[in-house]
Amino acid sequence: MKIIRSVNEMMEFSTLQRERGMAIGFVPTMGSLHEGHLSLVEESIKHNPVTVVSIFVNPTQFNDPKDFERYPRNEEEDLKRLAKYGVDVVFIPYVEEIYPDKEEQPKRYKLGKVAEVMEGIYRPGHFQGVAIIVDKLFRIVNPVRAYFGEKDFQQIAVIKNMASSEGLDVDIIPCPIKRGEDGLALSSRNELLSPELREKAPEIYSTLKYSVEYSNKHSVRATHDTVVERLDSVPGMKVEYFEIVDARTLLPVEEWEESDWIIGCITVFCGEIRLIDNITYRHP
Ligand code: PAJ
Repeated sequence: MKIIRSVNEMMEFSTLQRERGMAIGFVPTMGSLHEGHLSLVEESIKHNPVTVVSIFVNPTQFNDPKDFERYPRNEEEDLKRLAKYGVDVVFIPYVEEIYPDKEEQPKRYKLGKVAEVMEGIYRPGHFQGVAIIVDKLFRIVNPVRAYFGEKDFQQIAVIKNMASSEGLDVDIIPCPIKRGEDGLALSSRNELLSPELREKAPEIYSTLKYSVEYSNKHSVRATHDTVVERLDSVPGMKVEYFEIVDARTLLPVEEWEESDWIIGCITVFCGEIRLIDNITYRHP
């Protein structure tokens, strides 16, 4: 497994692969890798002759500086895990090379309406930051396919729009959410939870799962309210938003009959730690 830190060296590698007709599968991450990340890596290895994983805690997508500072970093352990999987290259760029000019006005991306709801409202600037880094990484790594987790459902829609508005020819492949045995969606932020809240956090998924059953006999509004009430009653937990939306437009639905593909997207503060998850109510 090759570890590449310089942008030029990464570009040379990807150009060479293109010339040889070797498709690159790409998994961008911010490190502190868990089985969720590794499931994307596995998919890439299965479907591409070459797999590149990037590790970069991208400062421009953190709207909360405290969140950026405490974001877990674990390079040594990450590299050990990736080596076991048979990844070809781990790209760990220097922040100075990715953002050389601090004074530069950042580019504004056209991300469409899907970027203006949910995370777009509660994390202002977040998706522009995601778009900048993924655009840069796509141009450096030049992948044929790139793998993203459905835990960040809205992020996938935004990245698809970024790639199409930038004319980048990358196949965006969504991958299912990986959960722990207790149901909690795996996340690098889980390790920041206090032991008490770590124990309670699985309530997020158990409540969402319960709400799918509940939704068969109740309205969208009642299903929404049940989820929020249940989770808000757990000490230390507070729902930031829960939206039941059309999975294509990410706009709220009022009736179950409105769409053939409906999901519920949630973010919950567990103490100071913000966790995100989603569940499918209707699938085509
Ligand atoms: P990060 O949070 O490290 O996640 C990297 C990828 O792993 C994302 O596509 C995310 O959706 C996926 N992932 C995380 N937890 C998962 C889980 N439990 N099951 C399945 N997939 C999961 O998302 C980012 O980094 C950044 O925004 C990035 C795209 C790298 C740009 O900086």
